[in-house]
This record gives sequence, structure tokens and C-alpha cells, in this order.
Amino acid sequence: MTRNRRDCLIVALDVESVAAAQTLVDRLGETVCFYKIGMELAYAGGLGLARDLKDAGKRVFIDLKLHDIGATVERATRQIDKMGMDFLTVHAFPQTMIAARAGAGDGLKLLAVTVMTSWDDADLAEAGYGCGVAELVARRAGQAKAAGIDGLILSPQELGSIRKLVGPDMLLVTPGVRPAGADIGDQKRIMTPAQAIAASADHIVVGRPITRAADPRAAAEAILAEIATVDQ
Ligand code: C5P
Repeated sequence: MTRNRRDCLIVALDVESVAAAQTLVDRLGETVCFYKIGMELAYAGGLGLARDLKDAGKRVFIDLKLHDIGATVERATRQIDKMGMDFLTVHAFPQTMIAARAGAGDGLKLLAVTVMTSWDDADLAEAGYGCGVAELVARRAGQAKAAGIDGLILSPQELGSIRKLVGPDMLLVTPGVRPAGADIGDQKRIMTPAQAIAASADHIVVGRPITRAADPRAAAEAILAEIATVDQ
């Protein structure tokens, strides 16, 4: 069986201005239906673009990785929910996740960032943790499920073990995806789009292989065609 779910592909709009993001969105046209807006663009007026994208029928992932006192996280989450956004990231600290859950309605899916993929065991030790990355990812994944969080952001390598741990219902979303032969940039642990979907990712987040391609639409179409070959 083949799959043709365009919304498996989330394009990261990691650009410095709304104008640059809008140009990309226009070039990608109907090929891409799901966009991620992170801190760089959000702080340059990107939340207005997020509303415009929703008005144009797109799905929007707000990647602001919330973490603050509970009352602030709850109220900030409510604002994103009121804007009609689809996904929002929060850090996977139990208090933070519980507060975000309290602030989100049914439409907004909350995704927890377990451990930043730029962190290794030595970074955790330096920050005062008494366990390694794998153990902390598993612990936080369990806490996210218990808090009613809808999904997790994971590196491709974590998909298999965490899917077993959390079961079929949580959304697993992975960056670190590179088509075969693409420049890997600063990503260290990568999979191809097909490998990530086969490893049970619900969505892949792809930035530079599309946004910096000479023909972004053709690059996105190639990734969608690759995903369509994966058995469900
Ligand atoms: O350009 P590239 O495909 O590497 O972009 C990946 C996107 O996913 C970026 O927006 C990056 O911030 C995000 N991300 C990541 N690794 C994480 C969490 C988020 O690459 N652990």
C-alpha cells in the first residue's frame, strides 16, 4: 500500500523575514500544506504570517518551546490556541506540560521536546542531571503521555524505542531528516524521509533541503514521492 499524505511533510520556515517566508510559501504553492514557524521568524512578525497561512487553509506548527512558571505557560498556550494554530511545542518538564495542557483546547496539539538533540550525556551531567540522554528521553516521554500531551519531538534514532514505549496514539514528529545525497548541514543523526516514516514518524520536519534548494517545490515533491513509497 502506498501513502499520499501531504501533511506528513512539515516545512520549517527558518528565514529572517516575513517577506522571505511568504516568497517561499508562494513558490511551494499547493505542494506543501504544513509549515513550522520557530523563534527566528516569530520574533520578526511571523505570528501574523501564521494567521495568514491559516486563512489560506494551511496547517501551522508554532515551535516556541514554551517553558516558564505554570500560570504563564497556561496563558501563553491559550493565546496560541485562540489563534487557531495546529501544533505547539513545550519543553517536557512535568509542570510545564501540565500547565500547557490546561491552557490548550481540543484543536491545538501539544508536542513535548524531550531532550534537545544538541545535548549529550556530558551536557546533562554539567546541568546537574544524574542520568544519560536515553534514560531522560524515555522518562520524559512517559511523563508527557501521563500529562495528556499529544505528541513528542524526537530525533529519528529515538523513534523506534519511543514508539514502543508510548504506543500508537502519540504523534511522533522528527527533524534531522535528509533525502539521500543531500547536504546534512549541522544535523548529526539523520534519516531519509522514507526511513523516518517507516520508523513510525507521523510527521517529518524539513528545512534547508527544501528552503535552500534551487527549486524548493521540486525538492518538496521529491520528498513526498519518497514518502509515498513507504508501506503503512
Ligand atoms: O534545516 P533543517 O532541516 O535541519 O531544519 C530542521 C528544523 O527542525 C529546524 O527548524 C530546527 O530548529 C528544528 N529542530 C531540529 N532539531 C531538534 C529540534 C528542532 O533540527 N532537536
